[in-house]
Amino acid sequence: MEFKEVLYSRRSTRSFTDRPVSREEIDALLDAAINAPSACNMQSWHFYVVTDECVKKRFAEEGVCAAWVCTAPVIFVVCTDGQDIISRFGERAERLFVIQDTAAACENMLLTAVDMGLGGCWIGSFNEEKCAEILSIPQSRRVAALIPIGQPSQHTPSRGRKPLSDAVTYI
Ligand SMILES: Cc1cc2nc3c(=O)[nH]c(=O)nc-3n(C[C@H](O)[C@H](O)[C@H](O)COP(=O)(O)O)c2cc1C
Repeated sequence: MEFKEVLYSRRSTRSFTDRPVSREEIDALLDAAINAPSACNMQSWHFYVVTDECVKKRFAEEGVCAAWVCTAPVIFVVCTDGQDIISRFGERAERLFVIQDTAAACENMLLTAVDMGLGGCWIGSFNEEKCAEILSIPQSRRVAALIPIGQPSQHTPSRGRKPLSDAVTYI
């Protein structure tokens, strides 16, 4: 797919078909994620790949996230892993770099999903503590986002955007 087509056809996908996402597709999505830019190339991220139906069921039943998220064949749990970069750069790394690193990785995954005929959604509202508990995520990592990915079951129209002039100041 042409880059512009990928960029402009991406939508937040919130309903999925039953088609599984293969291990090769999962690996391609993770490879796209780790090819994102990161502060000092320190790659302050870690990814948990949830395909286990029992774990997804727990996510839904124990209120980690909305039930529809757990209908995706795969949920990427994107975490910061910032001990090294924080010890090097301090507060700015803790408050900004680890978030920016993981955000860039998330967008790479979502765009790559589109290129593969898949779709996904960036989930920022979820029960972070419960998610960390279920997956036994150490305290040194913070769960930044959930990215459910699968084959879209319906077309999602564009949500539109504010005019560019609202978002830009030319100096
Ligand atoms: C940081 C962030 C957090 C988000 N959190 C959620 C969320 O918790 N639940 C959800 O359904 N969508 C979430 N979204 C997706 C947005 O709602 C969506 O990107 C926005 O409405 C624009 O729609 P589009 O992605 O289809 O262009 C989030 C997106 C971002 C970037």
